[in-house]
Amino acid sequence: MSLAAVISLLTFSSCVLLAIEGRAMAKTVPTVRDIEQINDVLSSYIGKDDKLALLLDFDGTLSPLAPHPSLAEIDPESEAALKNLATNPNTYLAIISGRSAEDAREKVKLEKITYAGNHGLEIIFWNKSRYHHEIDEETRQKYEKMVTELETSLGGNGAWVENKKQSLTFHYRDVPEVDQPTYKARATSIIESYGYVANAAHAAVEAKPPVIWNKGEAALYILREEFGDNWPEKVKVIFAGDDTTDEDAMKALKGGGLSFRVSKRSEIETYADYRVPSTKTISLILQWLQDNMNQV
Ligand SMILES: *[C@@H]1O[C@H](CO)[C@@H](O)[C@H](O)[C@H]1NC(C)=O
Repeated sequence: MSLAAVISLLTFSSCVLLAIEGRAMAKTVPTVRDIEQINDVLSSYIGKDDKLALLLDFDGTLSPLAPHPSLAEIDPESEAALKNLATNPNTYLAIISGRSAEDAREKVKLEKITYAGNHGLEIIFWNKSRYHHEIDEETRQKYEKMVTELETSLGGNGAWVENKKQSLTFHYRDVPEVDQPTYKARATSIIESYGYVANAAHAAVEAKPPVIWNKGEAALYILREEFGDNWPEKVKVIFAGDDTTDEDAMKALKGGGLSFRVSKRSEIETYADYRVPSTKTISLILQWLQDNMNQV
């Protein structure tokens, strides 16, 4: 083989490797912000006769982030569009939240749609059927101890535990700013000492049981249950979320759906296809779907 041939072969294989890696890596993505861009992106993905599965995170996606989870309210424009989409026979709607499934349902208040809670560990289907992801006894027993330790050693001073029975969120948003890094580090180390997985969130640390199950697995489970193993041939999928735990769903749906990451940072690296700057843009996307999804 000539040197030129070797060089061109090497160049070719590194391009292939880059292409493969590129698919599997989080990267910066284009932003959509106005109705024209939304129209371009959505109208080239969804056709007139398509069915749609719309999978949405709640906090930071449908509701602007609030100082306390109980204060979060769905954006009124998103709410109106979702209400309409929930009754569209061509649209399947699921909320996939870090909240408990019941809590997410109380926030969204729509009947006959699916709610996945605790990052997908529990699912209440639109028809009331339930799914609970198996967690072994030992892990379950450690959970209560972990809650107690977090509360006794770090509770107060603005920090508190949102106990969701299978997973928890340790919030430190109201802790004085200088102390926040310490709270974050100590909560992470307590969570990990119980064998739970600690994820950084917005002024919070989330503790999830060490199971291979996340928002991505939950999204795929819902799609398979509702549309069968060949769901990619039957339904278009749109996912939107704003947090690191939502990246699991974006990764799982890469190539099989269209994902939007809500973030103020244009340089954010994500598995989503597009970034949107705020929950207001999510409202615009929902309104586009309301206006363009076939109603019959
Ligand atoms: C409800 O829907 C789920 C998901 O499609 C399905 O697995 C389950 O069998 C249904 N339950 C009933 C009682 O029909």
